[in-house]
Amino acid sequence: GRVAVLMGGTSSEREVSLDSGRNVLEALQSKGVNAFAIDGIDALVDAIRDGRVDRVFNILHGNKGGGEDGVLQGLLEALRVPYTGSGVLGSALSMDKIRTKQVWLSLGLPTPRYVRLQKGDDVHAAAHDLGLPVIVKPSCEGSSVGVSRVRDDAGLDEAVALAARYPGEMLMEQLIVGDELTVAVIANGDDYVALPSIRIVPKGEWYDYNAKYIAEDTQYLCPGLEGAAEDEIRRIAVDAFKAAGCAGWGRVDVMRDRTSGRFYLLEVNTAPGMTSHSLVPKAARQVGIEFADLCWRVLESSFD
Ligand code: DAL
Ligand code: MG
Repeated sequence: GRVAVLMGGTSSEREVSLDSGRNVLEALQSKGVNAFAIDGIDALVDAIRDGRVDRVFNILHGNKGGGEDGVLQGLLEALRVPYTGSGVLGSALSMDKIRTKQVWLSLGLPTPRYVRLQKGDDVHAAAHDLGLPVIVKPSCEGSSVGVSRVRDDAGLDEAVALAARYPGEMLMEQLIVGDELTVAVIANGDDYVALPSIRIVPKGEWYDYNAKYIAEDTQYLCPGLEGAAEDEIRRIAVDAFKAAGCAGWGRVDVMRDRTSGRFYLLEVNTAPGMTSHSLVPKAARQVGIEFADLCWRVLESSFD
C-alpha cells in the first residue's frame, strides 16, 4: 500500500515537522515502503479523496493545524484510513498539559504543582503560592514554544503575555530543580516497552527551542540513569503513557528533583520529533534499533 508521511502543516512546529518528516520519508523508502510526503491536513484530505493513500505515518507536530491534537485522528477514523500512533483520546488529552496533569494526579502519578491561569488572575500571587522560580507555558504547544522560566516577579508579566499569544489555556508550574529526562515508549497493542531514558544536559540554563534544534553543544546521556532509578523512570513513563490513553509510540518528558531524587511527569508527546537532534532516535540507537527500523516499528502501529 501507499504510505502518506504527513508533515509540515501550519502549527508553530511546522519547521520541526518538515525536518522530522523528511527523515522518516527517506527511512521508509530505504525499507522498500512506497511512501510519499504530504504537507498538511488539507493536502492529505485531497490525496485520500483521490484514492492515493492507504495509511498515514503521522509526523505532523503540534495542535491547530498540527496532527497531535486528535482532530486529524478523528478525521482518519471517520474516513477509515489507518494511521500511526495514538488515537483521538490519547492525542487530544496529551496535547493539553493541564488536563493530562489532572488525569495523572487522579491516578496518583507525580507531576509538578501548577495553577491554570485565567484572564484577570493575579499572576504574582499565583507565583508566590507555587514558590518562585516557576515555568509559564501555553497548555497546548510543543518544542517549548511560548515557554518561559521565571526567576522573580519582574519577569512574570512578560512570560504570561508570551504564553497568551498561543491558542488555548496557560499554566504556571513549579520549577523542579534537577535533571531533565525523557523516555520513549513503543507500544505494540497491549505490550508497552520503554526505551532507555535520556538525560539532557543543555549548555544554557534549560532545554529550550534553541537547545533542542539549533545548538550543537547540548549533551545527551543515554541511559540517563542507573540501576533502580532507571527502572523506576521507565516504569513511571509507561504508566503515564497508558494513563493518557496513548498508543503506538510517544515520548514522556520527566524532571528529577536534584535533592529528593523524585520524578515529576511533564507531558507526553504523541508525535515526537524525528530530526537529527531528536531524542527518540537516540534512545532507539542505544538498544540497537537503527533509525529506519524505528520508523518501521512506528509504521507497524498502524497495522491492525
Ligand atoms: N514536540 C516536539 C516535536 C517533540 O516533542 O519532539
Ligand atoms: Mg511537547
